[in-house]
Order: sequence, then structure tokens, then C-alpha cells
Amino acid sequence: MNILITGATGNIGLEVVNQFKANRTIGNIIAGVRDIEKTKKNYPELNDIELRKFDFYDISTFDSALDNIDIMFLLRPPQISNIKKYIAPLITRIAEIGNIKIILLSVQGAETSTIIPHRKIELLIIKNKIDYIFLRPSYFMQNLTTTLYPEIQHSKLITLPSGTAKFNWIDISDISRIVLECASNFNKYQNKALTISGSQNLNFPEVVKLINLITNGEIKYRSVNPLKYFIAKKKEKYEIGMIFVMFVLHFLPRVQPEPEIVNTFYDIFNENPKKIEEFIRMNIKKFT
Ligand SMILES: NC(=O)c1ccc[n+]([C@@H]2O[C@H](COP(=O)([O-])OP(=O)(O)OC[C@H]3O[C@@H](n4cnc5c(N)ncnc54)[C@H](OP(=O)(O)O)[C@@H]3O)[C@@H](O)[C@H]2O)c1
Repeated sequence: MNILITGATGNIGLEVVNQFKANRTIGNIIAGVRDIEKTKKNYPELNDIELRKFDFYDISTFDSALDNIDIMFLLRPPQISNIKKYIAPLITRIAEIGNIKIILLSVQGAETSTIIPHRKIELLIIKNKIDYIFLRPSYFMQNLTTTLYPEIQHSKLITLPSGTAKFNWIDISDISRIVLECASNFNKYQNKALTISGSQNLNFPEVVKLINLITNGEIKYRSVNPLKYFIAKKKEKYEIGMIFVMFVLHFLPRVQPEPEIVNTFYDIFNENPKKIEEFIRMNIKKFT
């Protein structure tokens, strides 16, 4: 079996590659990357797998990347929100080739909205009659050590428009274990959507309190209104698209019901997903 992993140089993709590498029995893994030379240089962990050029913006890369692929792990890069322009051509091509299944990284609650990009991709896949598994994870714990990290590192601060909204926290290694399970037993989950949550709904004041308790630290959380958030991120030279993604991710939970806690992870592995305390302990050096 040949599995093409997109977004392999990102948070979740790299973790998915690592899971698959530790379980070589699954078959052959291939990373679809924008720049093969840069990837070889910057990602040593991808050096021992096949790399193929793949760019959502460049239709000419699709056929060679998809050659002989059985399953595609499809990750929508955060900056791509124009699904019609950048993702629809790929889905059409996959349908034309036939026999390629998709494991899509979607997001918790995607089914409740037709305007969020992930739901648009889900609907395209269904419309094109491609066999799929939709994975709908909650909020990544790793946001604390990636997108939110520069501010933590430089100012011991997390500034967000989130108020005291509750987020459900999931570790990306737990999501990746589910990706591996789905690829290994595709038929079992075929044409189903799995919501993946952690076991805790916590707001940012609670998470910051835990970080400080565990690390003996002094990180502060500052909730700001949307306008202040936009101005602050603009000053930090964030691209408008990225500010928008960050805003939606962190503001919407204020006006939505608390995230649902589901047992998907426990039902598959008979163990609980990682708790945020464990994640903080594993990353203690970063927070201190
Ligand atoms: N953060 C959360 O809490 C959360 C929760 C649920 C779902 N999600 C979803 O998870 C996804 C983000 O995952 P992530 O955090 O792993 O993202 P990430 O770390 O930002 O990685 C994005 C990946 O996409 C690749 N990429 C970017 N533009 C590309 C293009 N034009 N063609 C091909 N590849 C391209 C990047 O490769 P380069 O190295 O070339 O840039 C990188 O490997 C989003 O769809 C998001 O909505 C996030």
C-alpha cells in the first residue's frame, strides 16, 4: 500500500510520518512537499522516505504526486481558505484517477457549518464519490508550542480574543495514532467521520494556571477584543489570512457551546488521550 502524506513538514504531518515510520508494516509512505531540496535540508526525519513534489497551488504537480497512491492523508494548509480555487481541482483529479482513498484532517464541529473550509472539502469529497475518512480533532495542545509560542517565549504572555471560552485540548500525537489506525483499517472506518477530542475542556486562564503551577513560571494570559487582536497581530507582521484563521479559531468558541467530549480515542485504544498536564511536563523546557 502506498500512502501519500500532505503537510508532512507541518505539526501534524510530521507527527503522522513518525507514527507511520514506527509501523512500517503498513506499507510505503511518501511525503508530498512543496520544495524537495529544502525539505531534505531542514527535515532530517523525512530523509529516509520518498519525497514527491506536491503543491496545492500547482495542478501540474498532482499527477506525479498521486502516481500509484492508495491513500492520501489530506491536510488543508491553514492559509488556504479558497477551497474552490485550490482544493477542488485536486479532488476532481483524484476522482478521475479513481481508487485513491482520502483520510482528511478536518476539524471538530465541521458538520455544523457549510462555510468553514474543512466542511467545503468534506462535501467535495462526498460529491465526487471518493472513499473517505474524515477526522475532526479539537484544539491542538501544540498550539502552545507553535503559533502561540513566540509571545510566550519573548513576553511570557498569551494574548488572544478568547475570554474565558472553553477549548477541548488534544495532543497531535494522539491524532496521529488515529490516522495510522484509519490507514491500517480503512474499511472499518470507511465513509465515516470521527470526532477526536481530548478529555479536558479548559479555558486559557485555567491552562496558564496549570503551566505556571507545573513550571513554577509567570506566564500571563491577556484577553483582548477582536480589534485590539487584529492591530496587535498586524504589528507583529502576521499575514491578514493568518490573523483571520487565528481569530476565528480563538474567538468563535466564545459564542459557541462548549466542545463535546467524545470517547473515540478510548474506544480505539482502550486508553485515555493525553492530558494537558502531561503535555506541559513533556515541554517543560519550552515554558521555563
Ligand atoms: N491548530 C488547531 O488547533 C487545529 C485544530 C483542528 C484542526 N486543525 C487543522 O489542522 C490543519 C493545520 O495543521 P498543522 O498545524 O499541521 O499545519 P502547519 O504546521 O501550518 O503545516 C502546514 C503544512 O502545509 C504545507 N503547505 C503549505 N502550503 C502548501 C501548498 N501550497 N502546497 C503543499 N503544501 C503546503 C506546509 O509545507 P511547507 O513546509 O512547504 O510550508 C506544511 O507542511 C489546518 O487545516 C487546521 O484547520 C487545526
